[in-house]
Amino acid sequence: MPAPPSPPHLILVGLPGAGKTTVGRRVAERLERPFLDFDREIARREGASVARIFAERGEGYFRAAERRLTEELRGSAGMVLAPGGGWAAIPGNVALLRPPGRIIYLRADPETVLRRLRRSRNQRPLLAGPDPLGTLHRLLADREEFYRQADCVVDTEVMDLQRLIDAVAELAWTFRGE
Ligand code: S3P
Repeated sequence: MPAPPSPPHLILVGLPGAGKTTVGRRVAERLERPFLDFDREIARREGASVARIFAERGEGYFRAAERRLTEELRGSAGMVLAPGGGWAAIPGNVALLRPPGRIIYLRADPETVLRRLRRSRNQRPLLAGPDPLGTLHRLLADREEFYRQADCVVDTEVMDLQRLIDAVAELAWTFRGE
């Protein structure tokens, strides 16, 4: 009998701190699928943190690495992917993976993500300036139209982590084999 087809990649998009990595990893565990965090993978390949890549090689270099990774992922399926917050707004990235990939937008308010990011050890180079809340509002204003092109929006403001994982896993299930 032929093997069942792999489900499409499930891609989580949203602002930095929206929960893409945390939710993505847990959903992947639940669904027994591989998980890939883009920033982590790029940092591993480059041998430098994302903050250092931005500082020493510039954002353009980072975006090119992000694009290369996206291109590579066209050749596979069935993973849960967490690209960085800028990925969905860069022309051409989404079209490389969808279709057949499916995208979920984890919506979160700038105030909420700033609170979460303050607890995180990962430095976000784009938020290193004097007014991170203002920057997050600007990023959201610039990017929301791209985030909203997702197949589904999950509002992280109205659910705790467990319900969020349940909701995203449930959606992933409905995307199977479509
Ligand atoms: C970025 C978000 C970061 C990382 C880089 C740029 C952005 O990822 O890719 O610092 O443009 O919003 P997270 O969304 O995981 O923080």
